[in-house]
Amino acid sequence: MQEGLRVHIRTYGCQMNERDSEKAAALLQRAGFTITHRENNADIILVNTCSVREKAEEKAVGKLRLLVDERKKGRKKLIVGAVGCMVQRMKDDIFRKIPGLDFALGTARLSTAGDVIKKVLAGRGKIIDVAPERSDCELNPHIDGRVSAYINVLYGCNRHCSYCVVPEVRGNEWSRGAREIIAEAGELVRGGTREIILLGQSVLTYGRSNAVWQAEQKSPSFARRPCSLPRGASQNWFSEPFPRLLEALNSIDGLKRVRFMSSHPSGCTDELARAFAELPKVCPHIHLPLQSGSDRILKLMNRGYTTDEYRAAVARIRRRAPQIAVTTDIIVGFPSETPDDFDMTRALMEEIGFSNAFMFKYSPRPGTRAAGMDDDVPEPEKMRRNQVILEEQNRLAREMNQLLLGRECEVLVTGRSKRNPDRWTGRTDTNIITVFEKPDGCRLGDLLKIKIDRAEEQTLYGEPVYEQTALQ
Ligand code: 5AD
Ligand code: SF4
Repeated sequence: MQEGLRVHIRTYGCQMNERDSEKAAALLQRAGFTITHRENNADIILVNTCSVREKAEEKAVGKLRLLVDERKKGRKKLIVGAVGCMVQRMKDDIFRKIPGLDFALGTARLSTAGDVIKKVLAGRGKIIDVAPERSDCELNPHIDGRVSAYINVLYGCNRHCSYCVVPEVRGNEWSRGAREIIAEAGELVRGGTREIILLGQSVLTYGRSNAVWQAEQKSPSFARRPCSLPRGASQNWFSEPFPRLLEALNSIDGLKRVRFMSSHPSGCTDELARAFAELPKVCPHIHLPLQSGSDRILKLMNRGYTTDEYRAAVARIRRRAPQIAVTTDIIVGFPSETPDDFDMTRALMEEIGFSNAFMFKYSPRPGTRAAGMDDDVPEPEKMRRNQVILEEQNRLAREMNQLLLGRECEVLVTGRSKRNPDRWTGRTDTNIITVFEKPDGCRLGDLLKIKIDRAEEQTLYGEPVYEQTALQ
């Protein structure tokens, strides 16, 4: 019945959501639907929502209302569904917010979309499913031919930062088995993937909170897998779960790069530093959200570290991996943040030298601890602070990127430049977007040496370096 029906998926929010949408698309395809990248020829539209800030929710609600209204404009049979974080948070209320919505699925139920669509087609009315039990732990369909692919390693979050709605919508922390992850990585690489990005809200705590992983660690087949560290590396096994997972991925033939996000300073151990230093495929890049440079605010945020502990975490990694690029997230205008607190954030940002930073204006989320605090920084002041650090960060990033002028960077080729199709684009191992003239014979997924001749705050430009074949 669904043969030939076209589904379009629109995704808001983080990489976790992108990965969920990919999975849903693959499963729907398997169930006989056709995935379309065009919204206007779709029979069914799914909106994967984010609830981390109020703005993100407003966007998704606005979009869903517009889609539902399309029915009045002639697309009478259009089916519209909301999935993901916002559904998990709003539950039944979502039908009140968006009258006309056909179905709503929470974060753990996305993989049931095919069945739910069939029920809607059969005229069973509005359907909602926000059960917390994962319906898809075994099913991690992948998409062939992605140069760079995400793998979920850790679901949920146990950290309870006072501003954050994630623990509520994504539930308790839960690690996938290492063997399952390694098998998925192997399959992706056979399908053409060259870079794997491991995803988790607090990815460095991987393997610490559920017994499945620990049992697996003790199983002889995993524990005695041959170690394939490069020459010169210390011969010690990694004993912590996350570095050990990195070590296992590092030994997959054909895989060129491994990245992961997001990290928390508490996970920046000596072993993690050693993993950066000794595992050549692990990119010298860590996304380590700071949120604030004021100890008082960090405490109110319940972040679980002081500014000195954050500094020490960065120093520990840099001692073993001096070239590492550190990127971050900052929230401005948290309740009671004074201009002095804000100045401390600016000073610490300058001190650490982030190669990139994502800035957010604080947004109170219902049900969080911070929502009970007085949201006392006025909106224009939040905007001003946001603008100030944005400019400072841009200046800093430009200065850092300009140090690369004339140097050669290794770039993983990921596609064509959006602005100029004659140019190609990729990322350095430190995750900076790089645009260059396509060399002859170059393919997606190649690692190229690019000589940098122009550097902006977010982008590097350059020419490929042709290596001369040495005469015997
Ligand atoms: N308000 C503003 N920013 C937030 N973030 C998370 N929750 C909120 C909120 N309530 C930011 C944090 C986090 C990033 C993913 O989003 O900086 O690291
Ligand atoms: Fe991602 Fe959090 Fe937004 Fe959900 S609420 S999409 S987990 S950022």
